[in-house]
Amino acid sequence: PVEEVKIYKGLAGVVVDYTAVSKVNPETNSLLYRGYPVQELAATCSFEEVAYLLWHSELPDAAQLAEFTAAERSQRTLDAPVKRVIDDLPLTAHPMDVVRTAVSVIGALDPTTADSSTSSNLAKSITLLAKLPAIVSYDQRRRRGQDVVEPREDLGYSANFLYMTFGEVPSDVVVDAFDVSMILYAEHSFNASTFTTRVVTSTLSDLYSAVVAGIGALKGPLHGGANEAVMHIFDEIGTADKAEAWLEQALAEKRKIMGFGHRVYKNGDSRVPTMKKALDTLIEEYDAQELLDLYVALDDAMQSRKAIQPNLDYPSGPAYHLIGYDTELFTPLFVASRITGWTAHIMEQLASNALIRPLSVYNGVDERHPAALAERA
Ligand code: SDX
Repeated sequence: PVEEVKIYKGLAGVVVDYTAVSKVNPETNSLLYRGYPVQELAATCSFEEVAYLLWHSELPDAAQLAEFTAAERSQRTLDAPVKRVIDDLPLTAHPMDVVRTAVSVIGALDPTTADSSTSSNLAKSITLLAKLPAIVSYDQRRRRGQDVVEPREDLGYSANFLYMTFGEVPSDVVVDAFDVSMILYAEHSFNASTFTTRVVTSTLSDLYSAVVAGIGALKGPLHGGANEAVMHIFDEIGTADKAEAWLEQALAEKRKIMGFGHRVYKNGDSRVPTMKKALDTLIEEYDAQELLDLYVALDDAMQSRKAIQPNLDYPSGPAYHLIGYDTELFTPLFVASRITGWTAHIMEQLASNALIRPLSVYNGVDERHPAALAERA
């Protein structure tokens, strides 16, 4: 007989550790990074300042920010072996596979990979913060048959990211909306990919290995892959007038509606109002009323049918579409941001490490004994 033990499927509701990085509060629909409400950070700070906050627990002063951004700006290019490996990957490879592979190569090239001191891990975190935009831009451009655009050290993180992808600096409206998305995606406590990075770190493996595993976890459509999946359903629906009927059929087929629902938030995702505001500025900038109509129609239909609220991926998917990214590049953009939260958690895990190794209840066949090969029927 199988032992009677309470199973916490999906670890739902299980508290596994403390964290000082962020606080997700579903009762108040709020999210704090190191104590600061995320919507206030989005209104007041740049993504670079938020990255610094997540890693150092405090916002930088002007001198600290200048030193930090100089370090980031000086590492925005990819080494030749990284470019070569990307070049060798077929265009049929999903961009998340490309990002995962490129980070793995960066880890294999770094002579300090085995050094897990906080100072070394901070240096690696800045390296990845600087290089992820280069990886994503490189891959987006190669998919369009375009040449590489070298980074510009005079530009901030988001302006440079967009410049490297599209070959020109877009308007402030676009840069600001993108920067807000980076801030909102940066950190979210023990989500699946962050927990993955903590599991890997708990074995005293290296930071790059943990990040590569995190990228693998983020790829899935129940997690980060949802921002891409939202755009696919928008394409499938077509126009606002078709949203209701489409939803009816999708629910009848027991499909999960991408961009809706959350394991922790049951009354709405704290980040959605801020990202929706950013999306609205893009709708105006690109004169994209039809996309907004579809966004509203599907959300309205979902509220009247299931009352399941949108999550951050719902407004960010269409935002990245308007900015000009191919749909498959949306989740790599999430990686570029979440590298900050992942690495903050990796360093926190190491500071008070315990090997993460839960238990299971065996429910397979009873004990038995192997017959010699000749005696097996
Ligand atoms: C992210 O945790 C984080 O912090 C993650 C994240 C981060 O910042 O790191 O916020 C980022 O991953 C956002 C989530 C992106 N995923 C999606 O948008 C995919 C669609 N959503 C879901 O499949 C779902 O809501 C989850 C996976 C997000 C949460 O699922 P749970 O907590 O495991 O809940 P569940 O699947 O058991 O759903 C409970 C009920 C079910 O109905 P019943 O079987 O009880 O009748 O709600 C229904 C579900 O069918 N439901 C949905 C639904 N989400 C929940 N039904 C249709 N469409 C949905 N999207």
